[in-house]
Amino acid sequence: MDTNTCRYTSSVGLRLDRFLYAMAAIGAGALLYGALYETDKLKTERRRLRIRRWPERLSGYKVVLLADAHVRDEKSVLMTKRAVELALAEHPDLIVIPGDTIAYWKKGVLDMVSEAFSGLRKADCPVLAVPGNHDYFAGDAQWLKPVFENLGVKLLSNESAVIDGVNWVGVDSEIAGRADPYGAIFDCDPSLPIVVIWHEPDMVDTLPFGPELMLSGHSHGGQFIMPWGWAPATSKLGSKYLSGFYSQTPVPLYVSRGIGTTGPPARLFCPAEVSVLTLIPG
Ligand SMILES: [Fe+2]
Repeated sequence: MDTNTCRYTSSVGLRLDRFLYAMAAIGAGALLYGALYETDKLKTERRRLRIRRWPERLSGYKVVLLADAHVRDEKSVLMTKRAVELALAEHPDLIVIPGDTIAYWKKGVLDMVSEAFSGLRKADCPVLAVPGNHDYFAGDAQWLKPVFENLGVKLLSNESAVIDGVNWVGVDSEIAGRADPYGAIFDCDPSLPIVVIWHEPDMVDTLPFGPELMLSGHSHGGQFIMPWGWAPATSKLGSKYLSGFYSQTPVPLYVSRGIGTTGPPARLFCPAEVSVLTLIPG
């Protein structure tokens, strides 16, 4: 190799090093900004959803989602308590907890859940929950049942409940290998509307036509969104439908960005959300 080639190669190597250092610095800066300024933001996301075949008698029905609390420490407990207070202030017809109530099982986590959701005892509407994949990390989602019952929350695992003349179908976690949507749906009263609550949003593509709506969480909205809209760290079964309302899926779908975080305890351009959904016939 001659001298000029050596100089050229080392200059390219130097520029690549600088580029990688710059990208690492930008990434670290973004995480720091997210941790300091974005993680504690909690937005009440009010949406009016036009739902095909939604009955006129239920026009204006209000559902609040408290998704992905990922309770694990004092900070997540406080964040969830704020979310519950925001939910109650909306005077909804129904509150739904679409999974990942905890981050993982550890000593004391049930007491944390009890504290985080204690405000639900004041709720003047029914509260439903389904398991998420994290509710099985190092344990079993069914262990949440006594605490939920004490708070007035009904945990649905591949079963349905009729409330206000609607079949609310709670499907267990697909990632945890527990989902049986068909068994739950086939048990429903076919004369009533069906709303499916299923933690993993991308599973909407597997649903049969029939239900009026599906409600999900899991994706955290991507949690980290670059200024140009790219989500670099999406999750399994939570990458196709990241957040918001999808009216053209086999069953119309709403995905909440949720309350908590997973992985780095930070968010970026993707604030935590209490979803307030007003359902109207479309
Ligand atoms: Fe999840």
